[in-house]
Amino acid sequence: MTSKQFINAILSEQQSDGSLPVLEGTLGPRAVDIQTLYARHGLLAFDPGFRSTAACKSAITFVDGDQGVLLYRGYPIEELAERSNFVEVAYLLMHGDLPSPAQRKEFDQAIGVHNLLHEQVLAFYRGFRRDAHPMAVMVGVVGALSAFYHDVIDMRNPGDRGKAAIRLIAKMPTIAAACFTYSIGRPNRYPDNGLDFSSNFLQMMFGVPSEPYRVDPVLARALEVIMILHADHEQNASTSTVRLAASSGANPFACIAAGIASLWGPAHGGANEAVLHMLAEIGTVENIPKAMARAKDKNDPFRLMGFGHRVYKSFDPRARVVQAQAKKVLSHLGIDDPLLNIAMRLEEIALKDEYFIERKLYPNVDFYSGILLRAMGFPLNMFTAVFALARTAGWVSHWLELQHDAHGIDRPRQLYVGPALRHYPPRS
Ligand code: ACO
Repeated sequence: MTSKQFINAILSEQQSDGSLPVLEGTLGPRAVDIQTLYARHGLLAFDPGFRSTAACKSAITFVDGDQGVLLYRGYPIEELAERSNFVEVAYLLMHGDLPSPAQRKEFDQAIGVHNLLHEQVLAFYRGFRRDAHPMAVMVGVVGALSAFYHDVIDMRNPGDRGKAAIRLIAKMPTIAAACFTYSIGRPNRYPDNGLDFSSNFLQMMFGVPSEPYRVDPVLARALEVIMILHADHEQNASTSTVRLAASSGANPFACIAAGIASLWGPAHGGANEAVLHMLAEIGTVENIPKAMARAKDKNDPFRLMGFGHRVYKSFDPRARVVQAQAKKVLSHLGIDDPLLNIAMRLEEIALKDEYFIERKLYPNVDFYSGILLRAMGFPLNMFTAVFALARTAGWVSHWLELQHDAHGIDRPRQLYVGPALRHYPPRS
């Protein structure tokens, strides 16, 4: 029997004795349940990069990459970006439904109670070089929180788990803003519970303790939208990292620190920073054809940052929303950013280019988010930190969901291609 015939036989077996059932979700492709494949057939499934592997069941977020659809708990991202706010979305992701007014009030209060940092946490910052990348500091500081909240968390207790999740969502803006103020040597402002989530983050980022800070409502709304768009994206690299780390029962703060580390890479959350480096490197609209040629050259590692996505093979629905916000904020602030002009022309050219059409490479959310964050005054190296504080809502929701999943520790297998058994040579 050829291996192809063997696989066909295995797949057809699910029809006869149900040994490999096909699972049906609410939406999206069905999945062959191969959990017994090794036990029954001595075979492993090989899928590095997880292109065809559903690593878990999840009821949080749905992405249809072919149609460009993104739903949080069933709600389209466009509707949430237009009508909701980040805290409500965080509640939705964590709990499954939008909060009632009473639930919302309680959630807001819980965030207000937990958004301060233990004063000893601030001592950690001083151990870092001032020019350290904020993501490096965030990995360290969030991981360090596990030393503050370890013995007090009983992972079997839903109340303790919920409190850990809230602590993470609430403290992340304080942590991120402190990364920035430490890097420029400015004293921190404390959180202001009279402000909404994004306004509060803006005042901690850009205010000084000695002066009142007036929040620009257009910028606060734009930040809310960025945070809603980035709050979750099902089983991406950082979320899968959080789930994998959490499957061993690890401390939630340590798990989220692992997610932050994964997010930092330029193929993931670091892309918004990389987009601006790329646009600056291109420099003028006239240089776009040269950049396009480099992006298509297999011998050149250069790629169009902010283009392409593992799941979206059509427009990333978040990209349109963020582009509209970028235009709005730039016009509100009266900024004529040459990088926006390069970005828009680059998009136009790439969308008509055969290479990009054939490979279904469209702008992703990061293509315009950097331009928007820059216009709002965020320094380049804080872009991914803003992403991390938004994605914390998704990470903790997946962490909470995983606590109900009884499959035990995640332990991928491998196709071993190293030397076969050999023996240590006798010493002469
Ligand atoms: N520029 C040029 N070519 C590209 C790009 C790009 N940005 N992205 C993919 N391709 C090409 C690949 O070279 C490959 O070509 P080939 O078939 O001739 O070999 C083809 O398109 C398919 O690409 P893959 O590498 O298989 O796509 P994959 O799903 O592995 O990667 C990724 C997705 C990592 C996002 C990739 O498109 C990329 O590196 N984009 C730039 C970085 C970026 O914007 N990341 C942000 C992602 S969104 C987020 O994390 C929030």
